[in-house]
Formats: sequence, C-alpha cells, structure tokens
Amino acid sequence: MPKPYTPNDKLSQKAKAEGYRARSIYKLKELDEKFKLLKSGMTVLDLGAAPGSWLQYAIERVGPKGIVIGIDLQEIEPIEGVDTFKEDITKIEEINKILNSQQRFENRCPRADIILSDLAPSTSGIKDVDQWKSIELSQAVVKIAKDHLKPGGTCVMKVLRGADFDEFLKELKKEWKNVKTAQVKASRDRSKEIYILLNG
Ligand SMILES: C[S@@+](CC[C@H](N)C(=O)[O-])C[C@H]1O[C@@H](n2cnc3c(N)ncnc32)[C@H](O)[C@@H]1O
Repeated sequence: MPKPYTPNDKLSQKAKAEGYRARSIYKLKELDEKFKLLKSGMTVLDLGAAPGSWLQYAIERVGPKGIVIGIDLQEIEPIEGVDTFKEDITKIEEINKILNSQQRFENRCPRADIILSDLAPSTSGIKDVDQWKSIELSQAVVKIAKDHLKPGGTCVMKVLRGADFDEFLKELKKEWKNVKTAQVKASRDRSKEIYILLNG
C-alpha cells in the first residue's frame, strides 16, 4: 500500500530544519551513499531540478571545482555556485543550445560526469497516462544523456513504474552497458517510484 501523503511528514520537517528546499534531498542522498555517485570536481546536470534540493546537495558534494547545472519548467531560486535554466527538457534543441553554449561554463566542456533526473510529470490522475508521461520524460533524459554525458558517465533517473516500464528497461539494456534499478526509503510511494541508473 502507498504511504499516505502527509505534507508535513518527518522528512519534510528534517529538510526544512537542515535548510533544504524539498524532502527529495534524502532520495538523492540515499542513492549517493549507496552508489557513490557524486565526487569533488564533477560536472552535474540535474533535469527537473526545481525547487532545488538536489542542486543544493550536488553543489555541496562537488565543491567549488565542480559545475552544477539545473533545468526545470519552473524558475529555480538562485543557489550559489549553480547555473539554472527555465526550459522544457523535451525541447531537445533548446536544451542542446543551453548546454552547448560553453562560454557560460568558463569555456570548460559542459559534458556531464553525471546526469540526474527527478522529473515528475504534472499528474492527470489517470494512472496509465501518468506512468506513460513519466516514460516519455525519461526517454528525453536518455536522449540528453547520449549527447551530454561523458563516456563512462552515469545517468540516474526517476521513473513511475507501470505497464510500459519493463519494455523501457529492456530497450535501455540493449544500449547501455550497465543498467541498474533502485528504490529508496525516502520515496513516499515506493510501489511506483523507481530509479534507473545507466552507465557506459
Ligand atoms: C519532484 S520535482 C523535482 C524535485 C527536485 N529534485 C528537488 O529536489 O528540489 C519534479 C520537477 O520536474 C519538473 N518537470 C516536469 N516536467 C518537466 C519538463 N518537461 N521539463 C522540465 N522540468 C519538468 C517539474 O516542474 C518539477 O519541478
């Protein structure tokens, strides 16, 4: 059974007390602790990044030598050391324009060591439609990863599990050397939310 939605649950309170913008921080922290994802000096691209708790955590972990870029449909309040852009990640040409404008990143190559996606579609309330929208967003993330991830880099993305999930995973396994899945304790609804890790 899904956990009931309680806006002021313990993790939301903890996030607030620790200065993070969302309880989602603990999902990334859990994945980072398990898979050793983020290291000093890395370039991180976060897709679907608002309000920004993953960006806050990422910049802490990569430090001043790292680059952290966040993109979302919604405006992201500034975070020191982080570049943010308001764009729809399914508009691949616009995303390419943002990421290929190297001057923005001090002429350093903006290819990412890691691409993160906690993207969540706006929900229709119809389970199958929402799960399909989540797969569509994930397909856009994979396209971006193909163009903007360094060789050997890692892509971590949230997907809502549904009827099309197994087929999607099967396709990914044809194209990527390593494909793993993980669930996190911090998810409100672990029966639906799953993270896919791609590498190679
Ligand atoms: C669960 S929130 C991300 C929370 C974030 N990881 C954090 O810790 O603050 C999901 C985000 O996906 C964004 N999103 C959904 N569809 C999008 C799209 N097509 N392009 C860009 N962002 C999108 C939403 O605007 C929302 O901010």
